[in-house]
Amino acid sequence: MIPQWFIEEKRDGKAHAEADLREWVAAVADGSLPDYQVSAWLMAVYLNGMTSAEIAILTDAMMHSGECVSFNLQRPTADKHSTGGIGDKISIPLAPLCAAIGLAVPMISGRGLGITGGTLDKLESIPGFNVRLPISEFKRLTDQVGCCMIGQTDTLAPADRRLYALRDVTGTVPSIPLITASIMSKKLAEGAQTLLFDVKFGSGAFMKTLADARILAQHLIETGRRLGRTCCALLTDMNQPLGKTIGNALEIRESLEILSGKGPADVRLLTLTEAAHMAYAAGLFPTLEAAYARAEVALDNGEAMTYFQKMCEAQGGNLALPLPKAPYSEPLYAETAGYVAHVNAEQLGRAALTLGAGRVAVTDTPDPAAGIEALVQAGDYVEAGSVLCRLCADNLEKIANVREQIRQAITLTPTPPPPRSLIVEVMSA
Ligand code: URA
Repeated sequence: MIPQWFIEEKRDGKAHAEADLREWVAAVADGSLPDYQVSAWLMAVYLNGMTSAEIAILTDAMMHSGECVSFNLQRPTADKHSTGGIGDKISIPLAPLCAAIGLAVPMISGRGLGITGGTLDKLESIPGFNVRLPISEFKRLTDQVGCCMIGQTDTLAPADRRLYALRDVTGTVPSIPLITASIMSKKLAEGAQTLLFDVKFGSGAFMKTLADARILAQHLIETGRRLGRTCCALLTDMNQPLGKTIGNALEIRESLEILSGKGPADVRLLTLTEAAHMAYAAGLFPTLEAAYARAEVALDNGEAMTYFQKMCEAQGGNLALPLPKAPYSEPLYAETAGYVAHVNAEQLGRAALTLGAGRVAVTDTPDPAAGIEALVQAGDYVEAGSVLCRLCADNLEKIANVREQIRQAITLTPTPPPPRSLIVEVMSA
C-alpha cells in the first residue's frame, strides 16, 4: 500500500480494500505513518464517509491494534456506553445493579470531556477508589465481584489514541464513521458480549439533534452486529440535565440515593431501563418487563447497593469516609413564582465547569466537591424566594460568576410544561 494512493482513494470517494485498510491502521498504531498523511486521510474520511463494511473493518483493525480482553464466565457479560451528558451518573448505579440481577459488567469508562462529566472523575471522588487497575485485576474483579469500573489502559486500542489526538486538532472529530470506530474499538476490546448505547441528543450532548443521534446509534449497532456482539441503543434527551446534581462527589451522593431505592425519578427510570435492556438482550430474562421488574426489586431491597459496596471495597474505595464537601454551598433563589419549564443542560454544564467541576485544559484536575446540587427539574413548582439550586465551590467569586448564567438557564412559566419524554427511542439490530 502506497500511503498517498490510499489517501487519494478516499479523497475521490472510493471504498478501501480490507487488506489496505488493515495495513493502514497497523501503520497508524506503530507510528510508521507521519502525522500529515494520517491527518489528510482523516479529512478525506470526514468529507467522503465510509461504507458500513469499511467502518466494521476499521473498528476491528483498531480494536486489534492492542490487547483484547476475553471472558469465560458463568454469567453473561454486558456493558453500556453513554455518549456523555450533564449530570449523567447512570453508570455508577447501573454497573452494580446489573451485577445484582445476574450480569457480569466489565466497564472501562472515560474522564470528563468538555462540559460533560466523566465516570472516572466521579468514582475518584470516593476516598481511595482506584480506577487504574491492570487488565488482569479488571478480569478477576469482574468475575469475583460481578462488576469492575476502570479507566482506559495504554494497551487497549492504541490506534484510537493516535487517531483521536489527530482528529482533535484537525477538525475531524464530528465524523460518524470515525466516532463509531473510536467508540466501538474500545468497547469491543473490553470484552463484553452485549452492549447498550445511550446515545444522547440535545443542547448538553455531543449530538445536537435526534436525527444525528439516530444515525450514530444505527452505525454503532450495525458495527457491533458485523463484529459478532449483541447491541441495542436508547436515544435519550439531553436538553436538560439528569437528576438534581452536577459535579463529581455530588453525583456520587445522588447515585447512592438511587442505590437506596430513592433519588430523582429521571435517574431511577434511566438506570432501571438500561439495566433491563442489558439483561434482556443478554438473554437473562424472557421479557423486557420481567428484567425491569427484577431490576426494581434489586434497587429497592439493597442488593444493588451491596454490589456497589463490594466493588468499592475491592477497588480500594472507603465509603465510611465522608465524600469531599465544598467550603461554600450557596443558594440561588427564584425571583418569581412559577413552574420550571426548562433547565438548559448546556448552560448548566458550562456553569459547573466554571465552578471547578471539570477541566478547562486537559492537564487540569477537577475539584471533586464543586458543582450544582438541589437543582429544580422541569415540572417543579417554585415560590418566589425559594431555592432553584445550590452552587458549590471553593470560593465565592466562582459562585458569583455563574449566578446570572444559571438564572437565565432556568425558565419559569405560569402554567405547567407538557410532560417530558426522556427515553425517546429504543433501537436494536
Ligand atoms: N468518544 C470516543 O471515544 N470517541 C469519539 O470519537 C467520540 C466520543
